[in-house]
Amino acid sequence: MTTGPVGCPRCDGRPLDLAAEPPRCSACGTAYPPVGDLPCLMPDPRLWRAVWIHRLADFTAETERSLQQWRAEAAGAEALPRTRARVEAVVAACEQQRLEVQRLFQDVTGGERQLLPAAPGAGGADELLRFGENVFRDWAWGQAEVDATRAVVQRMVRQPLGRLAAYGVGAGRLAVDVHRALGPTETWAIDLNPFPLLVAARLMRGETVVLPEFPVAPHSQQGVVVQHQLRSDVRPGPGFTFAVADALAPPFPPESFDTVLTPWFIDANERDFRETAAAVNRVLRTGGTWLNVGPLRFKQSLGTTYTIEEIWDLTAASGFELVSRSRDDVPYFDSPASGSRRIETVFSFAARKIAPAAAPPPAAAELPWIADPSRPIPLTDPLIAFGRQSVFAGSVISLLDGQRSLNDVAAEMGRLWGFDTPRIGDQLRAFFATLPPGVV
Ligand SMILES: C[S@@+](CC[C@H](N)C(=O)[O-])C[C@H]1O[C@@H](n2cnc3c(N)ncnc32)[C@H](O)[C@@H]1O
Repeated sequence: MTTGPVGCPRCDGRPLDLAAEPPRCSACGTAYPPVGDLPCLMPDPRLWRAVWIHRLADFTAETERSLQQWRAEAAGAEALPRTRARVEAVVAACEQQRLEVQRLFQDVTGGERQLLPAAPGAGGADELLRFGENVFRDWAWGQAEVDATRAVVQRMVRQPLGRLAAYGVGAGRLAVDVHRALGPTETWAIDLNPFPLLVAARLMRGETVVLPEFPVAPHSQQGVVVQHQLRSDVRPGPGFTFAVADALAPPFPPESFDTVLTPWFIDANERDFRETAAAVNRVLRTGGTWLNVGPLRFKQSLGTTYTIEEIWDLTAASGFELVSRSRDDVPYFDSPASGSRRIETVFSFAARKIAPAAAPPPAAAELPWIADPSRPIPLTDPLIAFGRQSVFAGSVISLLDGQRSLNDVAAEMGRLWGFDTPRIGDQLRAFFATLPPGVV
């Protein structure tokens, strides 16, 4: 792990003990095992890992269900030969995709098996490949798109970038290109979704990643599946680090960066823009620059679905002075294999930090009994109702009595079903942390 301006995300970026194996915060004791060669600096690294093991298991099971259904469709007497061939091509590609995803996620699972079934409605499969298209755009066919966005960023830059943090980098191409083209002294490129980062990390190591693209609107039968052998000669060069981290609880000390770049991020992080602005402000030194580029497709409550005018006002109210702002139309996900593409109107601004941000509105608090598994789990009506949705959910909910904690339930499950209690404890936290909204 690079020794730059990183530290414990739970302790205001306090330096980690890098001599410890894995790196550890000497104040709070949290250990931060890397994911393959990616530093993983999430505030609750064990929960993050358990959630993604859980999602991987859900993705694997969901893929199997789809494959069974499609195989039956292909075998149906009424299927045209062409239909059968098309469905069989999709089945074969999905089988290969599942294997490749499992291979990529070995760095996350470390061989650990998911013991608990996914909660009904947890949506793990959708989460896992949510940014799959970004991978192809960044590393297969999207050079023109990345160049267009980089040009918008470049236009905003008036001084050396110094130390740069790039937030929500996805598959990372823009961050890599900005590092190469604009020469920051150091770049921390972070995201909390492992899939695109795992692909990018392997490509940067010179490996090949084989993934199928399923174009939204294929031009022909042959184009229903496009197999990509992803590899890249592009390298960011010294001073660049991809890391798993949460930009809203980042592993950086206050005032440790000269520039923060937020590409396609402010509307995608599911938080009030004021929280994003305060988090960016915190890590920037006074006089440092926030570079933003992306659309405003907030999917939030009406009150926080801001327009660009509100974004400018809230940026100014968060300790920034707007230096430049503009609007561009750029191509988005223009896959040569698809008849469907978008033009996105992106808003960009450069803003200089002139003061610390006022305290943002309180963030949606993590449930205390998930954050601290020794606290009692309140037995609520929605949880009881949720327990009726599957046999497994029912058996977990039946162990709750309003007093028992996650640790107690894990111990009980260990006793009843012979599970290893510490392992089941993390998986149980992930089970509850990924329940659909409104259940907990
Ligand atoms: C719309 S995608 C954009 C990805 C990339 N910037 C691009 O333009 O292709 C938004 C990205 O933000 C990431 N993200 C969302 N919330 C985040 C957070 N709190 N911290 C770090 N990354 C986050 C998502 O995982 C996703 O990769």
